[in-house]
Amino acid sequence: MQIIESPVEMHGWALNARREGLRIGLVPTMGFLHQGHLSLVGLARQRCDKVVMSIYVNPTQFGPAEDLASYPRNLERDKALAEARGTDVLFVPADREIYAAGHCSLVEVQGPSRYLCGASRPGHFRGVATIVAKLFNLVQPHVAVFGQKDAQQLAVIQQMVRDLNMPVEIVAAPIVRETDGLAMSSRNAHLSPEERREARVLGWSLRAASQAFAAGERCAGRLVKIAEAEIRKSPLARVDYVSVVDREAMTPVEEVGDAGALLAVAVYMGRTRLIDNTVLFKGGVSQE
Ligand code: PAF
Repeated sequence: MQIIESPVEMHGWALNARREGLRIGLVPTMGFLHQGHLSLVGLARQRCDKVVMSIYVNPTQFGPAEDLASYPRNLERDKALAEARGTDVLFVPADREIYAAGHCSLVEVQGPSRYLCGASRPGHFRGVATIVAKLFNLVQPHVAVFGQKDAQQLAVIQQMVRDLNMPVEIVAAPIVRETDGLAMSSRNAHLSPEERREARVLGWSLRAASQAFAAGERCAGRLVKIAEAEIRKSPLARVDYVSVVDREAMTPVEEVGDAGALLAVAVYMGRTRLIDNTVLFKGGVSQE
């Protein structure tokens, strides 16, 4: 596996690969890899000749009171995991190279950024869209793979690619869960053993609402209440939001119609904010 730190070198590598007719797949990450990230490499590999994984903890997507400084990092372990999973190039740029002095251009995707995490974390999706646009310019991918756990991020990126005519196919990867149902996330490492045990309420909340949906409940307000009741079973949990939204626009719906909807939750377990979601779709309950 080749390790590239310089954006100029990364861009040169990408142009060469394209000249040779190779298809490039990009897996953007902030590192501290888990099986969820590694499954994205597998999906990129199926579609492309070369897989580039980026590891960059992007400061512009963190608010001033958020966990940028304490975000978990372990580059040596990440290198070993990425290589073992078949990554061809690991792109690990430094802050000063990505955001040079005087940097003042940001990408703002308005529609799907408005609710859910966009409301709780002002500026977050502007930071995400900006770094992803930069990575697309540097890595020149044909395909980029993002996890469905960050469903709103996925919707924002899909919107950006459509609006700005970026020639990149966006692939959504299913959520990868621990055996007790907790969605894998680098932030799970922050949980104390007690918080980790109680974090199961996120999965329970989605399951309970999904079961009610499968039994015929279509009222978003009632589905939200069912999910919230499960989360309240943990005294450590504090709800940020529980919401039923349109799957593309990420706007709240009152009823789940034939197109289905997304049930999304964000919950603080102690100081750690966790998100999860499930698709509510007639004819079956899907975790994708
Ligand atoms: O999902 C993430 O890890 C990040 O938001 C991303 C897409 C790598 C951008 O920093």
